[in-house]
Amino acid sequence: MSNGSVFTDIAAKYDRINRILSLGRDQAWRQRVIDMLPDGRLLDLGGGTGAANPVFGSREVVALDPSPEMLSLNEVPSRVVAVGESLPFADGAFDSVFSAYVFRNLDSVERTVAEAARVLRPGGRLGVVGLGRPKGELAAALHRIGSSVVLPVVGTLAGARDEYVYLNRSLDKLPPPEKMFADTPMRRVSLWRMGPLGFVYGVVLEKI
Ligand SMILES: C[S@@+](CC[C@H](N)C(=O)[O-])C[C@H]1O[C@@H](n2cnc3c(N)ncnc32)[C@H](O)[C@@H]1O
Repeated sequence: MSNGSVFTDIAAKYDRINRILSLGRDQAWRQRVIDMLPDGRLLDLGGGTGAANPVFGSREVVALDPSPEMLSLNEVPSRVVAVGESLPFADGAFDSVFSAYVFRNLDSVERTVAEAARVLRPGGRLGVVGLGRPKGELAAALHRIGSSVVLPVVGTLAGARDEYVYLNRSLDKLPPPEKMFADTPMRRVSLWRMGPLGFVYGVVLEKI
């Protein structure tokens, strides 16, 4: 078996587990954000294997990801190996920037949002869907206990225990979205919570 097919197996497993953990809702959560983005040229920031491609409609998609292996499984013709913190595109090059389940992995949310604002045309939109903890200390504590039990078990069953232990820890890495997106160079159009106890968030920002 070549390295390529081993990686394909891991990526397929990863996509499947995401679907199971989100109780099949991961695509609906992406869709709700994408529905608020304009048509035209879209940058899928951290697009990975292209799980969101079926819901982009007729938009012209550029997929960006630091992992060439993930990108090699993405079927969009335009793929760029790079990070969100330093986008290799001209100012105003996109009508929208979309990013799903990526922000916990970033080195800098602030730099990435500033870069997204730079590559958007005026009136263009950044849409983000991400995972964190529910709002409120009690709900967050319950969620923390639940996920610290469930995620390692699911990860072990999936043969990817370390990744899922990391996922659990990463849910506490960032401030709540209400705080994280309170002060950005863009206008906040909408921010909402989704999923069990509201541990998933969607946010849409518009370039002024
Ligand atoms: C959980 S996957 C999400 C993939 C895809 N967006 C989806 O909806 O399934 C996270 C992706 O973020 C990418 N990533 C990690 N660090 C990044 C960075 N600094 N800038 C952009 N993407 C990054 C990873 O390579 C990976 O493909």
